[in-house]
Amino acid sequence: MKLLVTGGAGFIGTNFIKYWLEKYPADDIVNFDKLTYAGNLENLKDVEDNPHYKFIKGDVVDPDDVRIAIQEVDTIVHFAAESHVDRSILSPAAFIKSNVLGTQVLLDAAIENKIKRFHHISTDEVFGSLNLDSKSKFDENTPYDPHSPYSASKAGSDHLVRAYFHTYGLPITISNCSNNFGPYHFPEKLIPLAITNLLEGKKIPVYGDGKYVRDWLYVDDHCRAIDLILNKGVIGETYLIGGMTDGISNLSIIELICGIMSKDFDRSIESVKDRPGHDRRYSVDWSKIKKDLGWQPAHDFKQWLQKTIEWYTNNQTWWRRVKSGEYQEYYQKQYADRK
Ligand code: NAD
Ligand code: TYD
Repeated sequence: MKLLVTGGAGFIGTNFIKYWLEKYPADDIVNFDKLTYAGNLENLKDVEDNPHYKFIKGDVVDPDDVRIAIQEVDTIVHFAAESHVDRSILSPAAFIKSNVLGTQVLLDAAIENKIKRFHHISTDEVFGSLNLDSKSKFDENTPYDPHSPYSASKAGSDHLVRAYFHTYGLPITISNCSNNFGPYHFPEKLIPLAITNLLEGKKIPVYGDGKYVRDWLYVDDHCRAIDLILNKGVIGETYLIGGMTDGISNLSIIELICGIMSKDFDRSIESVKDRPGHDRRYSVDWSKIKKDLGWQPAHDFKQWLQKTIEWYTNNQTWWRRVKSGEYQEYYQKQYADRK
C-alpha cells in the first residue's frame, strides 16, 4: 500500500506509523501534518531515514497543501484533527476548521485522485453520554448525540465521509474508537497529565466528582484494528473499537497510577470545577469488529498502564519539552480559575 497518514506526528498517528512500517516494511507512508502544538516530529526520529517514509508539512484545510501530499498514494488514513475536548470548549473555531472543513477538503482530493480507500478515524464521543447506573453500550446503530464542540466537529466529519460514499461512491470506511493511552500521548489528556504531574511533584486535577467513566484501550490495539479494517473491512462500513476497562472511573485510574508510582492518593489529587457538558460514561460494544474481522483488545489495561508509566518515567526529556512553552499558557488558562 501507499498510505497518506494525516496527523501522523500526533499521538495515535505516530504509533500507527511505527506499527505499520514494522509490520509492512515494503509499504510507503507519507505523513502529512500541520505540526500544531500536538504534532511533534521528534516522535518519529527513528523512522525519518527510512526510504519508505516521507514527511510533508501542511494543513488539511488547504487544498494546495493536500494536492501535493496526495500524489502517489492509494490509501488515506485520516487522523488529523484537533483532539482535546477542553481546548474545544475554550476555542471551538479551530475544531470546525480542521475537523470539518479539513475532512471535506481531503475527501474532495480523494475523489479527484481516485483513492482506493479513505479510512476515517473517529471517536465514540460522537454518540454522547451513557448513564452511570446503566449497563448500556454504544454500537454501530447508536444515534449521534455529540455534546462538546470537539465531538460535534468529529460527528460532522463522520457524516461528511458517509455522504461522500453515498453521493460520489468514494470507497470509505470509518472507525469510532474509545479513549486510547500509551506512549507519545500529549500530556493534556488525563492519563499522561496524571503521570507527568506526579513526576513533577504536582497534584492531579480531578473534574467534578471524578466518577466519570471512559473505555480505555492501549493504542497498539487501535492500530491493529485499523490494520484489519484496511485489509479486510467492507467499503461503506463503520466499525466501533473499544477497550476492556468496563466501568473504571477517573478516580480509580488515578488511584491505580498513584499505586504504581508509590504516591499517596489523597495527597496527590485536587478537586477542580467540572468540565461544562461533561459526558458521564462511555462504553463500546465492539462485537461487530470481533465477529466480522476477528479483532479484540490484546493489551491488559493494568499491565499496559504500568508500561506506559515506565515510558513516561524513561522519556522525561520528551514530555518536559512538550510541557514547556505553549502548554504552560494552556494549563494556566484551563486550570487557574477552577480550584
Ligand atoms: P493528537 O492531538 O495527538 O494529534 C493530532 C495531529 O493532527 C497532530 O499531529 C496535529 O499537528 C495534526 N493536525 C491537527 N490539525 C491539522 C490540520 N489542520 N492539518 C494537518 N494536521 C493537523 O490527536 P490523537 O489523540 O492522536 O488523535 C488522532 C485522531 O484520532 C483524531 O482524529 C481523534 O479525533 C481520533 N481519536 C482519538 C482518540 C484518543 O483517545 N486520543 C480516541 C478516538 C479517536
Ligand atoms: P480526557 O483525557 O480529556 O479525554 P476525553 O474527555 O476526550 O474522554 O479526559 C478523560 C476523563 O478525565 C474525562 O472524564 C475528563 C477527566 N479529566 C480530569 O478529571 N482532569 C483532567 O485534568 C483532565 C484532562 C481530564
